[in-house]
Amino acid sequence: MRVVMSQSAMEFITPLTLQALSGHPVASSLLDPAAEAAMGHIELARWADLVIIAPATANLLARINAGMADELITTTCLATEAPIALCPAMNQQMYRNVATQANLTSLTSRGFTLWGPASGSQACGEVGPGRMLEPLEITELATQFFAQNDSAELKPLAGKSVLITAGPTREAIDPVRYISNHSSGKMGFALAKAASDMGAAVTLVSGPVNLSTPEGVTRIDVESAQNMLDAVMNHIDNKDIFIGCAAVADYRISEIASCKIKKSAEEMQLALVRNPDILATVASLPNRPFMVGFAAETHDVEAYARDKLKRKNLNMIAANDVSIAGIGFNADANALRVFWPQGSQDLPATDKLTLARQLLSLIVKEKTNT
Ligand code: C5P
Repeated sequence: MRVVMSQSAMEFITPLTLQALSGHPVASSLLDPAAEAAMGHIELARWADLVIIAPATANLLARINAGMADELITTTCLATEAPIALCPAMNQQMYRNVATQANLTSLTSRGFTLWGPASGSQACGEVGPGRMLEPLEITELATQFFAQNDSAELKPLAGKSVLITAGPTREAIDPVRYISNHSSGKMGFALAKAASDMGAAVTLVSGPVNLSTPEGVTRIDVESAQNMLDAVMNHIDNKDIFIGCAAVADYRISEIASCKIKKSAEEMQLALVRNPDILATVASLPNRPFMVGFAAETHDVEAYARDKLKRKNLNMIAANDVSIAGIGFNADANALRVFWPQGSQDLPATDKLTLARQLLSLIVKEKTNT
């Protein structure tokens, strides 16, 4: 839960109180550089699954109805795609006023939900409609909202199990050295978060990365390609979808030195042997899950991706052109070209989480067609 406070709300209680209760800093200003650096106001609006305005004063309802963006709360209402529940709280005469009633009619006709108000004795000493619902009643309505919306549309992966590989692998040369690559793991972690948000039980097998585990995701840390294959095979039973997003080293050192290799000769050679292909191994299992691979290419993207789709016996492949600056490896943004036997779709450059959601939607669609 994230809390946004209006300037007036801060006259009643301090942001620190709500920070302590919600466990997150309270956002209150549109122009606070520190708050914007943590979670910008647009990001906050996008992040929410449900926005609850409590208490919704007559003034705030009027401003939201007018589409104003004069402070963070009204701006969030404009910028969010999430449903907005209004919990009116005002004097009974203000509530009955035609202006307030017209605002409420206009807001509800545009899809805003009205929770309350209750009727009874008011802070001003009057009696009538306009009391905010009790916090526990609002919590109950929020719980009901999420229970009803755990539907196929919001949680298309509910009841499904997804296994994802992410990040690089490290192939040891000796006890202190290794061969690896620049994969950051960001795309795989974004997929894990997106799949979990869509209701899946997610297991994430990750090479060494600097990322925190998305909430609700089971993470297994591995180092080498062989470790990754072992972890995948230990967890593959009963999985519905497998997404190979890891940048697995194609080769490993044929014999890892047991002691640190000393420098002596001007030249040295390391003998390498092929690593097992994790995707292809899983794809050859009986009762295999829906198989999705990734392909990083620098040219002839479609031809190479389609070849990989066939050769590794996959259901879908997501290709990115790593020759384009600013996307792909290590970047926060990416663009994908997704291919499956009967079709393809381009997913233009955007942040990796949005892209992960789009890719998973394609997977859901194609999985139901196969
Ligand atoms: O053949 P290439 O390495 O380009 O294939 C990339 C895809 O195959 C990615 O999905 C990657 O995770 C997977 N892969 C694998 N095991 C390997 C090599 C690649 O699962 N040893």
